[in-house]
Order: sequence, then C-alpha cells, then structure tokens
Amino acid sequence: MNNKDNNSPIIEVKNLVVSFGSFKAVDNISFSVNKGEIFGFLGANGAGKTTTIRTICGILNPSSGKICLYGEDISANTSNIKTSIGYMSQKFTLYKDLTVKENMDFAGALYNISKKDIDQQMKKLFGFINFKEDENTIVQNLSLGVKQIIALCATLIHNPDIIFLDEPTAGVAPQVRADFWRLIKQLTTEGKTIFITTHYMDEAEYSDRLVLMQTGKIIAMGTPIELKKQFSRDTLEEVFLAALLRGNSK
Ligand SMILES: Nc1ncnc2c1ncn2[C@@H]1O[C@H](COP(=O)(O)OP(=O)(O)OP(=O)(O)O)[C@@H](O)[C@H]1O
Ligand SMILES: [Mg+2]
Repeated sequence: MNNKDNNSPIIEVKNLVVSFGSFKAVDNISFSVNKGEIFGFLGANGAGKTTTIRTICGILNPSSGKICLYGEDISANTSNIKTSIGYMSQKFTLYKDLTVKENMDFAGALYNISKKDIDQQMKKLFGFINFKEDENTIVQNLSLGVKQIIALCATLIHNPDIIFLDEPTAGVAPQVRADFWRLIKQLTTEGKTIFITTHYMDEAEYSDRLVLMQTGKIIAMGTPIELKKQFSRDTLEEVFLAALLRGNSK
C-alpha cells in the first residue's frame, strides 16, 4: 500500500535565498514536497543542492524566504520538528573507528532513543538491506557501498518521517545502489518522504518529482514523464543537458 497523499505538502519552500557574503548560493527558489514522495534534487556541482538541504534542516539560516515543515514555519520552532527529520549528509557518514553497532547506538543516543528501540529498529533495517556482516566490524573495514547503506540505517534509527539524503550513493557499485533503492521504496510505502540528491540519472528516474537546479536557481521541475515531454527528450540525461543549455543561454 502506498500512503501517498498528494494534497498535503510536508515541505514548503517559498522564495528561499541563501547567501554567503554577497554570493547567492540559493537564489529565490520555491517548491513543495508532498508526503510519501520521492523528491529528486538534481544539478551540476555547486548548483546549491546541499545548501538548500542544510537550510531546510535548520543547519543554515535563510537570508530571506520561508520554509515550512508540516505547515509550520521552521524559524518559529525547530526543536520539535528536528526529531522527525533524518539527514544523511554528503561528506560525513559514520565514525570510521567505531563499530557498526556503536555507530547505530551513537546515532540513536543523539535522539534519546532507548537501547531496546535502537536494537529493534537496527534489526528491522538490517533485515531490509540484508546485512550479513558482523555488527562489531569496525566501519573503516567495510566497503564504501556497505558503509553508505549502514549510514542510511543510522540516519533512520529514530524512525524519521522526512529523510534528506545528499548524494548517498556517490561512488557506490550498482548492486549496493539497488539495495539502497529497495530500502528507499520500502520507506515510501510506510508514508516516509524522501528528499534526495544524486548525479545518477537512473536514480533520478525513481523519483516521483524532480527539480533541476543551476547556479542557485530552479531551471526545471516536474515528474520524469512531464520533464521528458516538456523538453521533447527520451531520457532524463538529455532533459538535464537541454535544461542546462537553456539556462546558460538566458
Ligand atoms: N559555507 C560556504 N561559504 C561560502 N560558499 C559556500 C559555502 N557553502 C557552499 N558554498 C558555495 O555555494 C555554492 C553551492 O554549493 P552547494 O554545496 O550547495 O552545491 P551542490 O549543488 O550541493 O554541489 P555538489 O553537487 O558539488 O555537491 C557553491 O558555489 C559553493 O562553493
Ligand atoms: Mg552537494
């Protein structure tokens, strides 16, 4: 069963600007994400994807504009909302000198989750990803793909409703990417909302809706089918290139 409810935006971003000094990394963008959606955020390096995510998560402050989660302005109240967010950042994933289990315990402790609930959630998640290795393995001894998928599990330890994944599969082999996406699909069937950035166009295809960003601005938005139609292209890769070209010529 899919709990998708297209009438209830869970994330609303209105006229968001995020500046570093005089440079606008995010330049007046607006979009909304519905509950249960996989929302793909695409764009060339430096387009402003990570900055947008970090601002929605309350790590950076907007220079102007408004962000609402569950209809509530995050500038008014972030503490309650934060517990329902999971954020897997682009650079930092796991503590490499801790074991898999210690990383999960640490991630859970940050949210005051009981040991029992951490173990229960860990078992459930490891079941989905078919994790067969020893939980007491030191993280630095795992392959990149396994590290990334364990990092996803750590992000999910407090059972968040909105999950931000910033290039979670960068450099990961296709088989592990498939495991990754199996878990993501499972999460959406539970009504979770996924906000994901990727440079892989096959992954972009899994998104219900996509945003394409270029130098801080949104240059295209829609379902994969709508975007292909709009740009008269057969693949998202071609759509992406056409949108960038069009953006450059403006
Ligand atoms: N703390 C900062 N101070 C100054 N400039 C920054 C800062 N963080 C990001 N930027 C700049 O803002 C722009 C957008 O960066 P951002 O990391 O959001 O892009 P991105 O779309 O996530 O790129 P990538 O695909 O490489 O991850 C870049 O030009 C970057 O150099
Ligand atoms: Mg980034």
